[in-house]
Amino acid sequence: MKRKYSSAERLHKSSGIEVIVEEVSTHPLCLHGPTLLFSGEKGRYFACATCRDKKDCTVHIDEDDWKKEGVRKRNEKYYNLIPKIDKVAALNKFNEVKSRHPSDRAYCNTCTDLYIISQSKKHRGGDHRITTPLTEELLNSPSSWLPPLENDSSEAQYIFSKKAVSTVLGILRNNNIKNLLCIGTPSVHEAAQLDPDFDSLLLDYDTRYHLFHPPNKYIWYNMFNNYLFDGNNDEKILKKFIKLSKDRKLCIVMDPPFGGRVEPLLHTIKELSSMYNKINDIEDVEKLLPVIWAFPYFSEAYITNLAPEIKMHDYQVEYQNHKKFQNSKGGRKFGSPVRFFTNLPLLTIDLSNDSSYKFCDKCKCWVSVTNMHCTKCKSCTSKNGMTYRHCKICGQCVKPTYQHCTTCGRCAQEKHRCDLIVESQV
Ligand SMILES: C[S@@+](CC[C@H](N)C(=O)[O-])C[C@H]1O[C@@H](n2cnc3c(N)ncnc32)[C@H](O)[C@@H]1O
Ligand SMILES: [Zn+2]
Ligand SMILES: [Zn+2]
Ligand SMILES: [Zn+2]
Ligand SMILES: [Zn+2]
Ligand SMILES: [Zn+2]
Ligand SMILES: [Zn+2]
Repeated sequence: MKRKYSSAERLHKSSGIEVIVEEVSTHPLCLHGPTLLFSGEKGRYFACATCRDKKDCTVHIDEDDWKKEGVRKRNEKYYNLIPKIDKVAALNKFNEVKSRHPSDRAYCNTCTDLYIISQSKKHRGGDHRITTPLTEELLNSPSSWLPPLENDSSEAQYIFSKKAVSTVLGILRNNNIKNLLCIGTPSVHEAAQLDPDFDSLLLDYDTRYHLFHPPNKYIWYNMFNNYLFDGNNDEKILKKFIKLSKDRKLCIVMDPPFGGRVEPLLHTIKELSSMYNKINDIEDVEKLLPVIWAFPYFSEAYITNLAPEIKMHDYQVEYQNHKKFQNSKGGRKFGSPVRFFTNLPLLTIDLSNDSSYKFCDKCKCWVSVTNMHCTKCKSCTSKNGMTYRHCKICGQCVKPTYQHCTTCGRCAQEKHRCDLIVESQV
């Protein structure tokens, strides 16, 4: 018996709440841009695209109520509540700070301010969390030292290891792609900015990045509703970058916060792809742009069910500030659970320099040394970093810790309840 859904998918399904994927520009607003339409046991309602915890964003409007004039009027306040960022002022400030000696440059995390120490008294005193000196290298790589934002559930900021960043750039080189739309991947954007082979645009919800990048290199953005917070101005920047990418080829490099929902993210990829295709006169407007998407392996069935052209690669994506997501000591026993999902040929992910991977002649791609090719499944079947084994009765490879249960007719953990399908086989 084959099971189609991964644990992540069941998580979404078991919560019983579906996202209705549609154009969001007519939806009510919250501080995170247009809300999404959800459908659950209690009917259809609009709620925040970003915050999973209702405490973080309280907007909740029943679909039927949205037709009422009063409700619409009340929601209009959000147009004014969403703050504006002044990218030109930030650029001037950045240039001034940059003209100073590194020991005179500082960033105050308490006030979110980049400043010149000898010209400011504001940040003196113990309450201000200061980073100084700021060398060229640090100014060019704020993602490596900016403290992660506090709101872990919606903004979880985990930065790729240097190796993971160079793997991404290597994949792009192998595909002759020179331009990157970095969605929630500031570290890749920073590396691309320093590499003459590449050009990139950062789309991220974290507004601190506007202090470090010129106006045409950073857009304040929500990837769950494809929302540009500075409307027309940002759209001009994005469209210009997309147009200039025609001959250099463009790839979306995306690393959403963990637990983010797949449907709106895929919708965003589709909308950006269609924008690219229209601007660049590509006949097939539905053709997806190349994408490299970092996400946990247990989301595989969920992503590939909705977008079969996007495949999961076995590379374990490591992070510099997430202990569990490293392969070294102290990390998760079977390595990072994050993988790259991509519609680029898997063969172009060349890991020949990394002794943790081997080339599988049959699958024609690099896989973890612990992954074994199964002649019955005709693929290297491990997903989570363990070595899977084939169960003849299930007709598929399963985790080595699973045993076949004749009562429920599937492989599962030894101690499981046959009446509850909670564990995924893969
Ligand atoms: C898991 S971290 C990925 C960072 C990436 N690994 C890197 O090294 O650059 C998630 C990133 O997405 C950004 N982010 C969080 N929520 C977002 C949203 N709704 N829309 C756009 N970006 C978001 C965060 O600011 C952060 O940069
Ligand atoms: Zn919100
Ligand atoms: Zn301060
Ligand atoms: Zn194989
Ligand atoms: Zn097998
Ligand atoms: Zn079995
Ligand atoms: Zn059982």
